[in-house]
Amino acid sequence: MKTINVAILGATGTVGQKFITLLQGHPTFKIHELVASPRSAGKPYAEAAGWKQDSPIPEAVASMTVKSLDEALESPILFSGLDSSVAGEAESRFAGAGHFVISNSKNHRMDKDVPLVIPEINPEHFQILDTQKTKGKIITNSNCSTMFLAMALAPIHKAFGIEAVQVTTMQAISGAGYPGVPSMEILGNVVPYIGDEEEKLETETKKILGTYKDGKIIPADFLVSAQCNRVPVLDGHTETVSIKLKKKASPDEVRTVLENFRGMPQEKNLPFAPDKPIVLMDAPDRPQPARDIWLQKGMATMVGRIRECPVFDIKMVILGHNTVRGAAGAAILNAEALWELGYL
Ligand SMILES: NC(=O)c1ccc[n+]([C@@H]2O[C@H](COP(=O)([O-])OP(=O)(O)OC[C@H]3O[C@@H](n4cnc5c(N)ncnc54)[C@H](OP(=O)(O)O)[C@@H]3O)[C@@H](O)[C@H]2O)c1
Repeated sequence: MKTINVAILGATGTVGQKFITLLQGHPTFKIHELVASPRSAGKPYAEAAGWKQDSPIPEAVASMTVKSLDEALESPILFSGLDSSVAGEAESRFAGAGHFVISNSKNHRMDKDVPLVIPEINPEHFQILDTQKTKGKIITNSNCSTMFLAMALAPIHKAFGIEAVQVTTMQAISGAGYPGVPSMEILGNVVPYIGDEEEKLETETKKILGTYKDGKIIPADFLVSAQCNRVPVLDGHTETVSIKLKKKASPDEVRTVLENFRGMPQEKNLPFAPDKPIVLMDAPDRPQPARDIWLQKGMATMVGRIRECPVFDIKMVILGHNTVRGAAGAAILNAEALWELGYL
């Protein structure tokens, strides 16, 4: 099979390190370049990274010299896990130079000509790439909490229509990058504020579940109210959600549409596609981050406790692995989808 070189921007960070572990042995994408800040540039990756993954640094990567954002890159595909303070400008510049930038950063997600894609839900949104006038392109995946919310809402919205959503998140510390939240703030504590996070859930969800028409994305027309909390969990974002439906449905009917949900990655058998994008959990005390985030290799969205809501119509609990399906794994799946659909 033909392979294609990729660079990882922000390669030393939490998401960058996850890209490196997940891309080992990938049939199509081969790590060719690693890029990070001036603090890391010029050093061997093993020295720059402060490796925090469970598996050792892959040998081929350990000795690579980290590049800076100012250097010209050779790889046609750039996976970006850059800090948002630099991602906006750098990603635009690389797209201008002809690279396909597949980004985890917030900077371009809501740009009118940038697709914000979860390939199980809205691969047709890739069509707005035609409206980007640069030689290269920028493609984004969502904020990590939005990922799991959108996955659970998509089949429900399609089957019954959604009128309103109220979501409360309990987000892991790895979502804040490394070193993240100081231990004296998070140990034995809950921090009821994550900068910009509520706005991301409230806007990105509607863009993802929106409709592509004549070169534009028309956002979905329901309301989302989000409350976001940082909790002392290492990996895995949990969300409790209440949904008001346009067409009434029972918990069993909702369970059935979630159970049967499949999308383009499953139909095309993409390497990073989970067999089941949504895994339903029947035990009354699941899903739990300590036990369930690695189901389907970290690429699934777990849903449990589907029941009637006395205020809205249906309520449930959602969980996903924030640095895998919520970040690096989502970007890799987007790249696979773009490759499969002939965009790359
Ligand atoms: N963590 C998650 O669960 C998650 C989920 C979804 C999306 N995201 C998004 O993904 C991005 C990365 O998040 P993260 O958690 O991996 O953060 P992180 O651990 O803080 O890593 C940030 C990366 O950006 C690099 N960087 C910082 N300043 C730079 C500069 N001036 N020039 C070039 N590179 C620079 C860092 O390089 P040095 O090591 O050299 O400083 C590091 O590689 C963020 O935009 C974040 O919002 C994160």
